[in-house]
Amino acid sequence: MTPVAQAQPTGKIKVGLMLPATGTFAALGTAIENGFKLHVIEQGGKLGGREIEFVKVDDESDAAKAMDNVNKLIKRDNVDVLIGTVHSGVAMAMAKAAKESGKLLIVPNAGADAITGPMCGPNIFRSSFSSWQPGYAAGEAMAKKGHKTAVTITWKYAAGDEMVRGFKEAFEKNGGKIVKELNLPFPNVEFQALLTEVAAAKPEAVFGFFAGGGAVKFVKDYAAAGLKKIPLYGTGFLTDGTLEAQGADAVGVLTTLHYADGLNTPKDNAFRLAYVKAYKMQPDVYAVQGYDAAQMLGVGLAATRGDVAKKAEFAAALRAATIDSPRGKFTISKAHNPVQDMYLREVSGKENKVVGIASKALSDPARGCRM
Ligand code: PHB
Repeated sequence: MTPVAQAQPTGKIKVGLMLPATGTFAALGTAIENGFKLHVIEQGGKLGGREIEFVKVDDESDAAKAMDNVNKLIKRDNVDVLIGTVHSGVAMAMAKAAKESGKLLIVPNAGADAITGPMCGPNIFRSSFSSWQPGYAAGEAMAKKGHKTAVTITWKYAAGDEMVRGFKEAFEKNGGKIVKELNLPFPNVEFQALLTEVAAAKPEAVFGFFAGGGAVKFVKDYAAAGLKKIPLYGTGFLTDGTLEAQGADAVGVLTTLHYADGLNTPKDNAFRLAYVKAYKMQPDVYAVQGYDAAQMLGVGLAATRGDVAKKAEFAAALRAATIDSPRGKFTISKAHNPVQDMYLREVSGKENKVVGIASKALSDPARGCRM
């Protein structure tokens, strides 16, 4: 074939949103979709000069259905870009499918270390965090407060195991000792027996990971079990998007995350105002991650003038970019994970008030990533 100047693609870009619309993470899926769409609306409905069209699948946070669900988007709908999801087990299936099909994937929440570790790829990106990041920051923060012993508690699956592992790495490095590791299967919420074990172990502090509906119940049960005298720490998911429902039971909980209330920057203030106006609800970390997934797609599409087939140029643009996020500016590592500040937050009233930076410009070690 004779080489000819390639025409820029026209027409709509099909974005496949694979998010939970049901189950314990349903509200998280809604926030991600809202945030993503807010950025697209702000750009006049177009990214990289091309109109955006959405196709949606409810993944139910069910890893057993993940391959079938992502294949609906890839094979039935022939989407140009995959956006998803919340649950690490489901997102790992999406990463596998993206690797095999070559489709672009931007993960707007799931922390599974593998996605920007052993499963990393030139077409796979994350706008959120690796599980290791907020876990590690929490371990440093707890040790800095002078606590020497801790009990950990989580759902037993990739995200929980990895946040605990990150926590443990930093806590032990700083002289702390984990006296008991507790867990229950996802998405169970029968915490009573485990809370009895926490009380019996008498640790100086507790570190936990739960999110969405499960986090609401855990924080309420922790208080009801009379455990508030033992300081409760967690990755920020424990109290993000959940404070309305947790009420006074959450007050004083200390968490680490790449977003917080009270940042009071022009970018965050403008984002919050626009989000509340559009959706009549407050944004949370999930909304920010959705918004930034759209910003990242926009950066890649601007560099390729809307051509998703130009994967090397797409990736090069993101690796060189600084994303002006409501969380604060961040860059993207070689493994395609955000390099970002981890805030220390304390629940006060209905806010995850920022009280400091637990870990500055924290970069995931990307263990096992070869690209
Ligand atoms: C995950 O499965 O990676 C996950 C789910 C919910 C969160 C955070 C991480 O809030």
